[in-house]
Amino acid sequence: MNPDIAKQNAAIAALDYIEDGMVVGLGTGSTSAHFVRALGERVHAGLKVKGVPTSEATRTLAEQVGVPLVEISQVSRIDVDVDGADEIDPAFRLIKGGGGALLREKIVAAASARMVVIADAGKWVERLGAFPLPVEVTRFGFALTAARVREALLATNCAGDEVSLRTSGKANEPVITDGGNYILDAHAKAIADPDALASALNQIAGVVEHGLFIGLAGTVILGREAGVDVREK
Ligand code: 5RP
Repeated sequence: MNPDIAKQNAAIAALDYIEDGMVVGLGTGSTSAHFVRALGERVHAGLKVKGVPTSEATRTLAEQVGVPLVEISQVSRIDVDVDGADEIDPAFRLIKGGGGALLREKIVAAASARMVVIADAGKWVERLGAFPLPVEVTRFGFALTAARVREALLATNCAGDEVSLRTSGKANEPVITDGGNYILDAHAKAIADPDALASALNQIAGVVEHGLFIGLAGTVILGREAGVDVREK
């Protein structure tokens, strides 16, 4: 399977959920970028929508392709949020944040009447956790917070308990999110109880947000090289 063609197919299929006059959450990542570009083409053809970007990268892309934007503080509703995912399980629970945008992504998803997840079919998994779970944390005290995150992995019977600070570049500098925070990657390997882990992470001081998206996705569009598989909750 060519994942990029599959991602593009999923992104184009999500246009079926967009109607004139809607406020649309614009996700982050390569699949969402396909969607933003496709939406831009529809806008040029006359579609009237306003987008709420979930990252500065998506804001820049939306501006480049001509999708009109609105600040989240200026909207009272978001009709539909279209975003990618790193893993999706059969209960429509997600791991997100591979691109480091999980905080704004979760705020936008939670404010949306419908969340449509677009992904290549390889993101569908029986059990979450092979993809390291991103956890956004304050810079202050991040090493202590990482120790608490590790305890949460152990307490909820995850298969792995390694927690690493996300870095980038030759100098291995910590990645800084749009919100000015760090990202920890929790290598759970297999998450026995995603709901329990989400609750445990929510209780840790220093955790700003985590990449377990539970009870948010209503539609999943899995792209394949030829066509898509649409699943509704
Ligand atoms: C960014 C995300 C992305 O949606 C996720 O990482 C999937 O990315 P891609 O579409 O490039 O596979 O959560 O924070």
